[in-house]
Order: sequence, then structure tokens, then C-alpha cells
Amino acid sequence: MEILFATGNEHKVAEAAALFEPLGHNVKALVVDGESPEFVEPQANGLEEVARAKIEQARSMVIGTPLADSAILVEDSGLFIHALGGFPGVYSSYVERSLGLGGVLRLLDGSDYRGAEYRAVAIIDLGDRTLRASGVCRGGIAEERRGDGGFGYDPIFIPEEGDGRTFGQMSADEKSALSHRGRALKGLSEPHKSPSK
Ligand code: IMP
Repeated sequence: MEILFATGNEHKVAEAAALFEPLGHNVKALVVDGESPEFVEPQANGLEEVARAKIEQARSMVIGTPLADSAILVEDSGLFIHALGGFPGVYSSYVERSLGLGGVLRLLDGSDYRGAEYRAVAIIDLGDRTLRASGVCRGGIAEERRGDGGFGYDPIFIPEEGDGRTFGQMSADEKSALSHRGRALKGLSEPHKSPSK
């Protein structure tokens, strides 16, 4: 099956491709009229609501185009820092661009309470049905940046189930085995096994 991932984030496309290609599915970024789709994200309280808004918009963008029969994938994710009441959460992308990783580290300066989690909600529209799955990766915020792999907050996020390295210090496969996105996408590929579907 060809899966069109409606995201402008090439790292997310690469992570999905690495997971779905061994299952025989080809993953590509959705491009409409030569452009990656821009979504109007609702002022939402949760990833779920944002993911649902994205899938509706993505589906309506391909109606009447040669892509109309393709499977469309969307995902919304974020980093939730417990000491900050879940901030940046649904605003993760904006906060990464505005405050940056250094700014987020400064908010936790001197704090021993550094617990955090990444969360993801993924939805795939197969035309005749829609599947949804979510994934969580618990961990904490490092004292300083480590590694330059992955993207976004990866250099400052240490997964609980890892060996103390940040996601930025791991290979793509190591990250995917533990990550929120890896779990959400696996939930879509094995819906009967996913408790969160
Ligand atoms: P979205 O594209 O609206 O889902 O934004 C997700 C944002 O959350 C990204 O831009 C990153 O800031 C952050 N994020 C989500 N998943 C990851 C990840 O796997 N690594 C690092 N940052 C992530």
C-alpha cells in the first residue's frame, strides 16, 4: 500500500517509512500542487483534536486529485514536561522554534524534578475506514543537550526505558523501538493488538 504522510516534517516521514516499509508499505510525504500541506491547527486542548482536524483537512485537499484513493496518514505529537504542568504539550513545535531547547532547559534550571513524556496520536484514513492509535514514551529532561540525532527535543529527552542516553544520542531504530511515534504507528499497523485504538 502507498501511504501519504501529511506532514512537512521529513524526520517524521523517515521514521514512518522505516516502520512501514518492512511491512511492504511505501511511505511518502503528501504533496498537493507541489507543496507540503499547511494545516489550520485548532486552538485545541489535546493532540487527538488536532490530529482529527488534520485528517479532515488532508482528505479534503486530495478530493478530485489523482491522490484521492491513497491512504493518508497524519500524526500530532508533543513533549509534556510534568514540572511545567504539561508545557509545551500541543504547543511543542511553536515553543521549539521560539524558546528553543536552551530556553526549555533554563525553565528547569536547578530543578531535580525533570520527568516528562512524549505523546503521539496517529490517524490513517484508508478510504473505507479510519484507524487511530496513540503512543507514549515516558522519560525525563537532561541537564544539557546531548547528541545531534533525531529532531526537535531529542537531544534533551532521556527515555525511561533506555540506557541513560538521550534520543539525540540513539540511532533511528533505537529511538523508534521506544518512541511515542513508533508506538502509535505500530498500533496502526497492528490494530488488533493496540490497546489504545
Ligand atoms: P506537530 O508537527 O504539530 O505534531 O509538532 C510536534 C512537535 O513536537 C515537533 O515539532 C517537536 O517540537 C515535538 N516533537 C514531537 N515528536 C518529537 C520527537 O520524536 N522528537 C523530538 N521532538 C518531537
